[in-house]
Amino acid sequence: MIAVRKKPPVEDSSLKKIVIEEVDVQEVASSTFSLDKLINEPAEEPITSKKVTPIDEEIILDPKKYILSKTDTKGFIEYGNEYFVEIAGYTEEELIGKNHNIIRHPDMPKIVFQLLWKRIENRQNITAVVKNMAKDGRYYWVVTDFEIKVDKVTNDIAGYFAYRTAAPRKAITAIEPLYKKLVSIEKESGMDGSGKYLNALLEAEGKTYDQFINEITGKNSTMMRLLFSAMKKFFR
Ligand SMILES: Cc1cc2nc3c(=O)[nH]c(=O)nc-3n(C[C@H](O)[C@H](O)[C@H](O)COP(=O)(O)O)c2cc1C
Repeated sequence: MIAVRKKPPVEDSSLKKIVIEEVDVQEVASSTFSLDKLINEPAEEPITSKKVTPIDEEIILDPKKYILSKTDTKGFIEYGNEYFVEIAGYTEEELIGKNHNIIRHPDMPKIVFQLLWKRIENRQNITAVVKNMAKDGRYYWVVTDFEIKVDKVTNDIAGYFAYRTAAPRKAITAIEPLYKKLVSIEKESGMDGSGKYLNALLEAEGKTYDQFINEITGKNSTMMRLLFSAMKKFFR
């Protein structure tokens, strides 16, 4: 045994905590401890939806409540209201600073998020029916609308607000089979395939994406604008 350092016994109990004990170097060397491991491994595993196993259990949302969140320009969460925290099942600390994909459900087609980002990066709202996943793997359906926060000085996009309400059953019934189809197409041919399928479907119906969504959700953009201006006070 090689003693690295040994301090004499200390009487003062308040100092006892910092006394370096005799260390057996051989013991240390043969332990699983590795400096490389310590340096290369992140201190804490980041939380992502990919670590959550989805379960087939729906969280029924209160139709009178809304779920609000605010993100930076890349979708990293800066704020979430109480109902968001409650439904998502994460603590506020776990949500702030994480990408919004922390609640992404694997049943959501990628093409919907591509459409969403194209719109908001062009400073336009989009109404989307989204299936989200809580920390415990349960799911909940929302109708989401966005508002773009613009920096008054630079006129650059400073972030985004998302305002969500419970999706009407009619909207879920209409969109669920479509999302299933889009997800299965994406497995075969990616977003090229799902984009083409969605376009062809809308064309056959003679509707734009917005007309289709407004029809199934029973919403219209004027109503959303009014709701948003009423909600703005919560974001300050
Ligand atoms: C303001 C805002 C709110 C968002 N809300 C959600 C949401 O509720 N659920 C979700 O899955 N993605 C949401 N997103 C999109 C995510 O940032 C992300 O693009 C999406 O989950 C797909 O993630 P992935 O590309 O890593 O699969 C939101 C983005 C923004 C800017």
